[in-house]
Amino acid sequence: MPATRKPLKPQDDQQRRLAWFRDARFGMFIHWGLYSQLGRHEWVMNRERIPVAEYEPLADSFKPGKWPARKWAQLAKEAGQRYMVMTTKHHEGFCLFDSALTDYNAKRRGPGRDLVAEYVEACREQGLRVGFYYSLMDWHHPDGARCARNEKARRRFVDYIHGQIRELLTNYGKIDILWYDVNWPLSPEGWESERMNQMALELQPDIIINNRNGLPGDFGTPEQHITPEAAGRMWEACMTFNTSWGYTPIDTDYKSARHVVEMLRQVAAGGGNLLLNIGPDPLGNVPAPCPSVLRQVGAWLQQYGPSVYEATDPFQGEWLITGAFTRKGDTLYFHCNRWPGSELAIGGLVCEITSARLMGGPKVKFRQVKDRLVLSGLPEKAPNPLTTVIELKFKGEPRQVLGAGHVVIDKDPWAAPARKPAAKRTKAK
Ligand code: GLC
Repeated sequence: MPATRKPLKPQDDQQRRLAWFRDARFGMFIHWGLYSQLGRHEWVMNRERIPVAEYEPLADSFKPGKWPARKWAQLAKEAGQRYMVMTTKHHEGFCLFDSALTDYNAKRRGPGRDLVAEYVEACREQGLRVGFYYSLMDWHHPDGARCARNEKARRRFVDYIHGQIRELLTNYGKIDILWYDVNWPLSPEGWESERMNQMALELQPDIIINNRNGLPGDFGTPEQHITPEAAGRMWEACMTFNTSWGYTPIDTDYKSARHVVEMLRQVAAGGGNLLLNIGPDPLGNVPAPCPSVLRQVGAWLQQYGPSVYEATDPFQGEWLITGAFTRKGDTLYFHCNRWPGSELAIGGLVCEITSARLMGGPKVKFRQVKDRLVLSGLPEKAPNPLTTVIELKFKGEPRQVLGAGHVVIDKDPWAAPARKPAAKRTKAK
């Protein structure tokens, strides 16, 4: 008889399920759907008030190219991303998966195939973890809005939504992330969100679940900003590459590789993850310049990976115009993104440095006079055009003390703690 293991306490089980995610750091978000054909943001149906009857034929004209998910997964791998999350159904209601609950799906309409199945297989080929985005809000389902006012409609709609989540978590093998979105127009009670999460965990005991069905779930999802959650709570910042999630060629303000690298440093410092979005075109091609930017980031991670993948500790460093930090134990990684030339000074490090080197490269000369550290003999030009990481090792955990005033540290921060006077001396008269 197999030994029965004692079930873990819910919080311990949550930590167990989150373990891989805490180390993942960088993932690829994919917004792809019928809206990609219009090219004016994934909210186009709502923002332009397109009637359902006019929008629906997009399901038949949607004719993606051959297995685009394979290219996305290869790109994600090259970029140093460790997981992917794809929209299985966005607010428009069209399902990229084969569903027994609606014909408005990729298998039965234009594509003629299950695009979620292709995606899952592509992730697995590259050894990437698999995430499913699923919008609760649904502009196509006849009960999607009236469920808020009519109990019969709510019952039908909630059964539909739960039923689709069940399909997604039953038909594709092991799924790592369930990523709900927009819980308009119901309350968590209305959605029966507790039961929804329970079902997900029964079907996929290792899955992690986000916080967008109105419950806290396993991790927070700051959107378009990088803000750590309360200590101990896992979080993932989701960010667009330009400003839209869906394919929008008129929106051309793409983030640069240098920008992405800086976002990676920020999420690392706060102990979170970065989920960076791409919005493929209707054929499934990833718009320029995203592939080249992602490859540059991947090359950067090849050299400097440990400074973001492994450095999780929020070193409360103060701002410097030349860069910012991550830390791992006694090592500080200085991410220098404005290269100052042959000398670099860092103020306020009140701990003894033992070595300095360009990460993955040669040692660097240093001198340290109290809380002023000066690295010298550096190359005139930045060794890495995106950001050069300098690895600084210290005796013990490094700290930085930098006030707004100049030389106002009246107590020498290096000094040993003052001893208590042995006995009170009597004042000389
Ligand atoms: C928002 C938007 C949606 C996008 C999502 C990504 O909720 O409604 O279009 O999919 O954010 O986080």
